[in-house]
Amino acid sequence: MSSFFSSLFFLLLIIQPYPMNLTQAEKNIFILAGQSNMAGRGGVTNDTTTGATTWDGIVPSQCNPNPSILKLNSHLKWVEAQEPLHEDIDREKTNGIGPGMAFANHVLEKNMGVGVVGLVPCAIGGSNISEWEKGKVLYSHMMKRVKASLRDGGGDVRGVLWFQGESDTVSLRDAESYQSRVRRFFLDVRADLQTPLLPIIQVALASGSGPYVEIVRQAQLGIDLLSLKTVDAKGLPLQPDGLHLSTQAQVELGKMMGDAFLQFVPSSIPSPNVHHNNVSPIRKESSNSIGLSNFVSHIYIVPLFTTFLIMIS
Ligand SMILES: *[C@@H]1O[C@H](CO)[C@@H](O)[C@H](O)[C@H]1NC(C)=O
Ligand SMILES: *[C@@H]1O[C@H](CO)[C@@H](O)[C@H](O)[C@H]1NC(C)=O
Repeated sequence: MSSFFSSLFFLLLIIQPYPMNLTQAEKNIFILAGQSNMAGRGGVTNDTTTGATTWDGIVPSQCNPNPSILKLNSHLKWVEAQEPLHEDIDREKTNGIGPGMAFANHVLEKNMGVGVVGLVPCAIGGSNISEWEKGKVLYSHMMKRVKASLRDGGGDVRGVLWFQGESDTVSLRDAESYQSRVRRFFLDVRADLQTPLLPIIQVALASGSGPYVEIVRQAQLGIDLLSLKTVDAKGLPLQPDGLHLSTQAQVELGKMMGDAFLQFVPSSIPSPNVHHNNVSPIRKESSNSIGLSNFVSHIYIVPLFTTFLIMIS
């Protein structure tokens, strides 16, 4: 029996449930990944005569810097974050406003328990889901950055913010493969970070580079994974290019993603904008008391069940 309790104890340690203990002292780290709408093109305009793209430099108050919001820069150093967040990451493109700063400011405003937010921007404009596959350059680049963000031990990864898929709307084959590819990506990230229930906030597309936007959207809305929440960008204002979210849209999206994340934190109030992809029976039964029952079910039932499986095997 003592081996039962020691393995239970071990499993309680390794299976990290929802990010319950958002700490004041340590960084609460978020990975920002995807393509241009995650990198941010809000306020970027295209001069039709020269073809030059420029950012208008307008930073809404919701995206202002804050001493409690840090970013891991391209030299793998923590610095105070400021727009454009992906300027030194998505270097080939002109960056503007994305959802990251509005997300961080919103989370800090709504939850006093969050001390420092550490953002790890990794998005690359124009990338498709195949390029994010484990083993490919973008995946490795992201993981290298995430490992660097944890190096000084001063924080924990609390979630992944993911906005991608526009490039996968061009061919029917890619659109139809999207769900299995993105699902694999989420599972690989969680496995590599040894956090099977790492919260993921993904965005259902507002637009795309090709005709199959609706197929990719349905793929996104239909993914069945625990601890995955989807916010829907459809209907948010786009820039004249019809592809990129405007600055105002990015502010709105950042708040929606913040509300979705805060649903993982028991003291927060759920937002009506968020779709629940979780379809487990545990989840359904507990839908009236989101935070606590998720916590209880995942910190106790999952390890108990796993321990049981180990003991009988
Ligand atoms: C600017 O216009 C060019 C040519 O039409 C296009 O290829 C490019 O994607 C546009 N860039 C942005 C940021 O809208
Ligand atoms: C994804 O993008 C890469 C780089 O642009 C390209 O080589 C590849 O063919 C694309 N893959 C798919 C499935 O579209």
